[in-house]
Amino acid sequence: MAVTVKSAKEIELMREAGRLLEIVHKELADAIRPGISTYELDKLGEKVIRSFGCEPNFLNYNGYPASFCISVNDEVVHGIPYKEKILHEGDIVSIDAGLIYKGMHSDAARTYGVGKISPEAQKLIDVTRESFFRGIEFARAGHRLHEISAAIGDYAESFGYGVVRDLVGHGIGHKLHEDPQIPNFRQRSRGIRLVPGMTLAIEPMINAGRADVEWLDDDWTVVTEDGSLSAHYENTILITDGEPEILTLSADSPEGRKFPF
Ligand code: MF3
Ligand code: CO
Repeated sequence: MAVTVKSAKEIELMREAGRLLEIVHKELADAIRPGISTYELDKLGEKVIRSFGCEPNFLNYNGYPASFCISVNDEVVHGIPYKEKILHEGDIVSIDAGLIYKGMHSDAARTYGVGKISPEAQKLIDVTRESFFRGIEFARAGHRLHEISAAIGDYAESFGYGVVRDLVGHGIGHKLHEDPQIPNFRQRSRGIRLVPGMTLAIEPMINAGRADVEWLDDDWTVVTEDGSLSAHYENTILITDGEPEILTLSADSPEGRKFPF
């Protein structure tokens, strides 16, 4: 399938899908504490999504059994929420979320510390988030897709981190996963030329140790092979005539962009 350019109407709906998803993330961020289960977070988030009249887009996607992916410590992505899976002080937890609003999808992920975490864990979270922002400096009409990939990967690797290669970002719109695929590391090709109206989910997955990952027996949970911590940060963005518009992060969000490094 070719990469699509969204109409003004589709973009309006995706803005709303993104705005609502940001609220879902805020509710979940506020609920994170030692002692809560990933199942409870999943159910809380699903309730918020449905309260907007929206659907969780992950639920039943290729048979995925929950509304959110909640991945703890060495889990990279696609952690399945369980009642028995309790968050503890010092853990890091990635929450990946998406919803459908009037037929259009949004997708975003954040990684948080549970209570007090180590400086090393906080740095991994901060660098992963910053790598997204380094990447989207090239998310502009006329630039090539893989300039984004290279900027993300080069930045994260400059800290000695492992950039996950087995999973990539993606186009998004009428479907959760559309073309193009968006790797988080330098490519041989330059990729497609970016055009206003393209909507992309850019999602660096960065390991404190080596880049290699493996799948658990549940066929979903992706973990680091060396057991090192992993962080994930994702937003749905819109290519415009100027700066990219981040649909899942409002300009005045207290989470904002920081430049710690
Ligand atoms: N958010 C994930 C992505 O960006 C999708 C999760 S896979 C699912 O591709 F099965 F849970 F939907
Ligand atoms: Co995604």
